[in-house]
Amino acid sequence: MTQTYRVAILGATGAVGTELLALLDERNFPLAELKLLASPRSAGQTLDFKGESLVIEAVTADSFKGVDIVLASAGGSTSKAWAETITGAGAVMIDNSSAFRMRPDVPLVVPEVNPQAASEHQGIIANPNCTTILMAVAIYPLHQVQPIRRIVAATYQSASGAGARAMEEVKRQSQAILNGEAPVAEAFPYPLAFNLFPHNSPLTDVGYCEEELKMVNESRKIFGVPDLRVTATCVRVPVLRAHSEALNLEFDSPFALEKAREVLSQAPGVKLVEDWQANYFPMPIDASGKDEVLVGRIRQDLSHPNAIDLWLCGDQIRKGAALNAIQIAELLTQNDWVKPSKSLPLANSIA
Ligand code: A2P
Repeated sequence: MTQTYRVAILGATGAVGTELLALLDERNFPLAELKLLASPRSAGQTLDFKGESLVIEAVTADSFKGVDIVLASAGGSTSKAWAETITGAGAVMIDNSSAFRMRPDVPLVVPEVNPQAASEHQGIIANPNCTTILMAVAIYPLHQVQPIRRIVAATYQSASGAGARAMEEVKRQSQAILNGEAPVAEAFPYPLAFNLFPHNSPLTDVGYCEEELKMVNESRKIFGVPDLRVTATCVRVPVLRAHSEALNLEFDSPFALEKAREVLSQAPGVKLVEDWQANYFPMPIDASGKDEVLVGRIRQDLSHPNAIDLWLCGDQIRKGAALNAIQIAELLTQNDWVKPSKSLPLANSIA
């Protein structure tokens, strides 16, 4: 008989949480039990799952007793607040926040890139930043053929990265502008409808915002190349739910475009989308709701013999967040890695 697992979603009512719920159903995850957890604001409300109405509970100290896997997507402070309780209860936490990603004792996993890292968890596995996941899926297959020496990235990030409230805000702002009214910004610092702005994550003293530094530091950790040269400019655009990225990749020697296309057409999680005659390439509306990262517009960098340019779009809520987390959970269940590889959970050292 197939083994089944008791799973909890922390942040079940959010943009990523509701997608986690849909994916557990769609991918027929081997569930023994499913708990939906959120803030007290949502307690008592229900969400449908496989034709059943599941009641959302406010998270408490007892919520994780008897749970095997917690899929957490309720923000960094909520993850930090509950990590010790979760690991202490013997559950493994697959955390979508940035709270633990750069800890050396927490694997940072993109299943198409470094699946084995998941086996080394001590109670927490981090789901990487969404733009970093999409980039990693698309470029790791090229990196395996010829190591990438430098990445220059520009991102075009949708409202979904800031959650369900931000997506609603962009719709309201669009409506207001079309009605000749002033757009109201609450979830974002500025109106996003009919506008764009450099990513609103906090600025750091090196001049990069935190989102840009996540792309730098997290790609190095996922690829296992601590000195990988990465630079990024992250921008919010008025798109609802799929991110786009323009990437310039530099190698030690020229990378033949035909080889790049051949590699990417066979790469797991990637779909090559290029129609040069029709000028048709990946677009967020085509990537929305899809599992694959759409890649296209692969071309020689005319300013550097060893560099190529490419363009990608990927669903931020799916592969950029919920799908990647579910794939990590599947790695654990399929390889019998649910229990920590080391007996000491890191619970007592969590800040
Ligand atoms: P709630 O809907 O009850 O506020 P998003 O990323 O789309 O904004 O979603 C955030 C998710 O995190 C929601 O499910 C939200 O629940 C949940 N959440 C936010 N704060 C807390 C908290 N303090 N405790 C538990 N869940 C929280």
